[in-house]
Amino acid sequence: MTLTRDEAWKKLALHPDPTLEELFAEDGDRVDKLSVRWQPGEVAAGILFDWSKTHLTDDLLGDFEALAEASDFAAMRDRMFAGEVVNPTEGRAAEHSALRGVGQDASVEEADALRERMKLLVEAMHEGAFGEVKHLIHVGIGGSALGPALAVDALARDGREVDVHVVSNVDGVALEEAFSKCDPATTFVAVASKTFTTIETMTNAQSALKWLADSGVSDPTGRVVALTAAPEKAVEWGVDETRILPFAESVGGRYSMWSSIGFPIAAAVGWSDFQAMLDGAAAMDRHFRDTDGRGNLPLRAAFADMFYLRIKGAQTRAVFAYDERLRLLPDYLQQLEMESNGKSVTVDGNPAGPTAPITWGGVGTDAQHAVFQLLHQGTHLVPVDFIASVEPGDMLDAAHHHILLMNCFAQGAALMAGKESDDPHRNYPGNRPSATILCDDLDAFTFGALVAFHEHRTFASAVLLDINPFDQFGVELGKEIAKKIEKGGERFDASTEALLKAAGVG
Ligand code: F6P
Repeated sequence: MTLTRDEAWKKLALHPDPTLEELFAEDGDRVDKLSVRWQPGEVAAGILFDWSKTHLTDDLLGDFEALAEASDFAAMRDRMFAGEVVNPTEGRAAEHSALRGVGQDASVEEADALRERMKLLVEAMHEGAFGEVKHLIHVGIGGSALGPALAVDALARDGREVDVHVVSNVDGVALEEAFSKCDPATTFVAVASKTFTTIETMTNAQSALKWLADSGVSDPTGRVVALTAAPEKAVEWGVDETRILPFAESVGGRYSMWSSIGFPIAAAVGWSDFQAMLDGAAAMDRHFRDTDGRGNLPLRAAFADMFYLRIKGAQTRAVFAYDERLRLLPDYLQQLEMESNGKSVTVDGNPAGPTAPITWGGVGTDAQHAVFQLLHQGTHLVPVDFIASVEPGDMLDAAHHHILLMNCFAQGAALMAGKESDDPHRNYPGNRPSATILCDDLDAFTFGALVAFHEHRTFASAVLLDINPFDQFGVELGKEIAKKIEKGGERFDASTEALLKAAGVG
């Protein structure tokens, strides 16, 4: 009998509530059943996903599969890969996977052609066609900055072809900091904006241009590359068409690091690693597209997320990368997950119930000495993801990586087991869930797969929640009010008026 979505959610809420300890005691095969090794090819590094320290069970997974069916998950996923409109409020497709070669043919072909242009420009820059280019200041914000910043930080640590500085904040302090590290004579500027209208980015771009001019660079706009889905606006702004790298409107901002928005990544890591990043993401795309039920890794992760969000009432989820190269991952995931799924209404506009948990996190082991107290003894239920790599990212004594990994595993074990004490202050309740994502090696391919895994996990959650993950109207109101304040002539609430007066602005 096929359940309705409501019935499927109700059934999920009826499950018993065993502790993690009980679950392990009940089922000797728990680790085998709840963990999956993803091996995308014979040569590529794989990833181990371990959900055994979560409260997921065989039965729960079965009922989540029924929820996925009731939510038309497979059809929604097919529609996304087919380039159909899956963002109905904006009448758009969501074709980020086409940028990696997985999608409808016409979109993949278009993306291939655009990528070829980008490759030529990156290689021309590396080969000195624009004179010596040592630095790239990448101005962009939100999805036009977070992906490039994450990828450059993760993949270009052991030497960069070009030294990249991602500047997002309109606070001039950020741009000044980049200026202080760059020689204008050998600096290029990438202006990254899907719309090419975002006030922060356009203000930073203008100031970067002025800095080049003031420093004696003879043709400042000749040192600018525009990365945008609105090439005509970049032309108006003064960028020569040969240095405009467009991407399709159907690529959402927070899903755009695979498009020309990834120019600084390719500039820093070189083309072959950029391509490897796309290939890793494509391998995850194919896995997500072609695997049904609990074997589908992003879907299974969404099951765990939805279990804690909807059945257990968790309001947050935390991500700790035990890998310095992924220190920006929590920032990236915050936008991906919260801008996508931070919604109050279903696709049809009805109340949605709880949606995206608040994503937060940090880097291990640092976070252990800062926020883990709350995880172990605080009152919030916080499902945790640990992410680590078996291969070290450093060349120092093996002790470094050993200590890092041992701490990562120890935290998951401690959260689960807890430790009883007669002294309430020294008591650890335990039974606190975590999942571990253990990469064989954090190379460019695995990195791409890891990011794509999170994109699809976010989409899968949205389907189960019946919300649209691809719009973000919530960010508009604040922008509108800021514009009105800037324009002047309008009155606001008493508090805002007082603040404007105190700061002498408006
Ligand atoms: O304000 C939110 C947002 O629209 C994000 O979704 C987007 O990534 C960011 O602003 C930047 O937009 P753009 O690339 O058009 O400058």
